[in-house]
Amino acid sequence: MRKKNRIEKIYKKYLSVKENNTNKWSESFFFKLFSEKDVFFISLNRPLDGYLIARKTLDEYEVLTLATDINKRRTGIGTLLLTKLINLAKKDKVLRILLEVSEKNIAAVSMYEKLGFKKISKRKNYYNNSEGFSDAYIMEKSFS
Ligand SMILES: CC(C)(COP(=O)(O)OP(=O)(O)OC[C@H]1O[C@@H](n2cnc3c(N)ncnc32)[C@H](O)[C@@H]1OP(=O)(O)O)[C@@H](O)C(=O)NCCC(=O)NCCS
Repeated sequence: MRKKNRIEKIYKKYLSVKENNTNKWSESFFFKLFSEKDVFFISLNRPLDGYLIARKTLDEYEVLTLATDINKRRTGIGTLLLTKLINLAKKDKVLRILLEVSEKNIAAVSMYEKLGFKKISKRKNYYNNSEGFSDAYIMEKSFS
């Protein structure tokens, strides 16, 4: 029951920080996601100022989604969330962290690069939203 409430809270926050109505994950998708044992989330503060959801697969982490409160952006919260993930990855001795990001998401790409992520490949027309198609960068932070 407590887990259910926790996931509902994260889902509400997820909705509140989404800037448009396209490509939203449904609540049922969230519950399905959190039923997987290797999916975890990292958050900051109560009420949440931001969250990051990741999955551990074998010896790597994958960032599934990351967002910060729209009213508190550019105050270092995204950096803190990723720093927490990086520290966890080192402790967990994973070889790398992977993520996908739209090439149009200048803010996120810049943040990832500042934290040592490198672009390792590109997926054509990976995202499709109200602004049309955009390519995705696959970015990696390697620990090996
Ligand atoms: C991307 C996002 C998570 C960044 O979080 P944040 O808390 O605002 O980031 P930080 O304050 O830690 O900023 C770290 C760096 O990111 C870059 N950055 C952040 N916002 C930026 C913006 N609006 N424009 C340009 N660069 C930006 C800067 O390099 C910044 O460092 P600086 O402030 O010293 O110049 C946030 O904008 C967000 O939630 N966006 C919507 C969801 C999203 O795009 N998630 C990523 C999906 S892959």
